[in-house]
Amino acid sequence: MSEMRSNLRVDGPRLLNRLADLGTIGDTGDGGARRLALSEEDRQGRDWLKGQMQALGMKVETDKIGNIFGTLLGREDGPPVMLGSHIDTVGTGGCYDGALGVLAGLEVVAVLRDAGITPRYPVCVAAFTNEEGARFQPDMMGSCVHAGILTLEEAYAARDAAGVSVGDAIHAIDAIGDLNPGTIKPRAYLELHIEQGPILDSEGPVIGAVTGVQGIRWFEITLEGESNHAGTTPISYRRDPGLVASALNVEARKVADSIPDQRCTVGRMEFTPGQINVVPRRVTMTLDLRNPSDAHLDAAERHLKDFLTATAKEHGVSIAIQETARFAATPFDERLVATVEGAAKEMGHASRRMVSGAGHDAQLIAALAPSAMIFVPSVDGLSHNPREFTKPEHIVAGGDVLLAATLRLADS
Ligand code: HGY
Ligand code: MN
Ligand code: MN
Repeated sequence: MSEMRSNLRVDGPRLLNRLADLGTIGDTGDGGARRLALSEEDRQGRDWLKGQMQALGMKVETDKIGNIFGTLLGREDGPPVMLGSHIDTVGTGGCYDGALGVLAGLEVVAVLRDAGITPRYPVCVAAFTNEEGARFQPDMMGSCVHAGILTLEEAYAARDAAGVSVGDAIHAIDAIGDLNPGTIKPRAYLELHIEQGPILDSEGPVIGAVTGVQGIRWFEITLEGESNHAGTTPISYRRDPGLVASALNVEARKVADSIPDQRCTVGRMEFTPGQINVVPRRVTMTLDLRNPSDAHLDAAERHLKDFLTATAKEHGVSIAIQETARFAATPFDERLVATVEGAAKEMGHASRRMVSGAGHDAQLIAALAPSAMIFVPSVDGLSHNPREFTKPEHIVAGGDVLLAATLRLADS
C-alpha cells in the first residue's frame, strides 16, 4: 500500500463534532439522547444525516422501510463495501450506540475525499431503521426487511404501545423512500459499535474483533386475573396476575444463574389498574432471553414457558405469550474478522476476539454478505443509559481501524 495511504487517519475532532451534533437531536439534557424510531426526533436525525451525506458528495438513497444509504462511488461499479449501523435510540439512550458506526462511516468517506482517493469499489454508509426495537418490535427491523427476513407489510403492521403502526409513523415523518428493500447488496459489511458491556473497559484492549452475535428471543406476555379489594379479599380467593408475573421474574434470574452464558431480562411489567388498594386485573410484561448457544436458549425458553403455565394455572390466572423477536446466534465471516484484526494491528492497536451481547444490524446483513464488527470500550460497560460514554481516543482508534479495514476491502 502506498506511503500516503498507510498514513491515512480519521480526523478525530471532525468525527467527535459530528457525534456531538447528532447528540443534540433528541437531547435529553442529561448527556443522553432520545430518538425513538420514526419519531419527530428520528426525522430530525434523518434529515441531518442526509444533509451530511450530500455535503460529502455521496449519492443518497432511501428505501421503503426508511433505511438510508449514502454511497461514495468507486472507480468500478458493483457491490459496495457497506459501513453501517443506526441513528435511532432507546428512550433513555446515549450518544454513541449506533451513531458511532454511521458517523465513523461518514468520516471514512471524508478522509478518502480529502486524500483524493477514489476506491476501486463503492463505499456505502447505511443507517438502518428501528434497530433498537424500543418502540416497535422486532428490533433490527430495517435490516430485517433489507435482508428479506421481514416483509414490508409485516414491518408496516407493527404497532407501538399507543397503537400507532410503523406504516402510519413512517408516513407521518415522510421517511419512506422509493428504493425497494434489499436493492443494495454489499460485497462486505463492517459495523463499528460501542461494546455496551464491561469487558474491553475492564480488561482491555481498545479494539474488539467481534466474531458473532448471540441469539435473541423477545416475548410480550399478558396475564389476566381478577381485580378485587386489597383489604377484604382473603389470599385464598385471589387470582393475582401480579404474583405470577413477579414469580416469573424471579425464576428468570434462577434460569440465568443455572444455564451457561444465559441472560434473562424483564424490562417492563405494567399492572392494571395499578392502584394501591386493588388486586391487579392484568399485567403485561416483557421477557428478553439471550445466549450465544441456540440450544441453551431453547432450554431456557422451554423452562420458563413451562414454569409460567404451571404457576398461572395454580393461581387461576390466564396467560397469552406473543413472540416479538427471534434471532439465531450469528457467527461473522472469519476472513473479515481477520481483516479487522489486521487493520487494528496496522493502526497500532491490540485487539481481542469476542461475541456481541447486544443485537446489531450486522447479524442480519451477515445473511447477505461477509460481515463483521469492531468494538470500542464503553466506560463502566454502561449503555442504553444517558451516561453511556466512550473515550475520545477510543472513538478515534475505532474510526482508524474502520478506515484501514475499509481500504483493505474497497481498494484491494
Ligand atoms: O436489544 C439489542 O440488543 C439492541 O440494542 N437492539
Ligand atoms: Mn446499537
Ligand atoms: Mn442499542
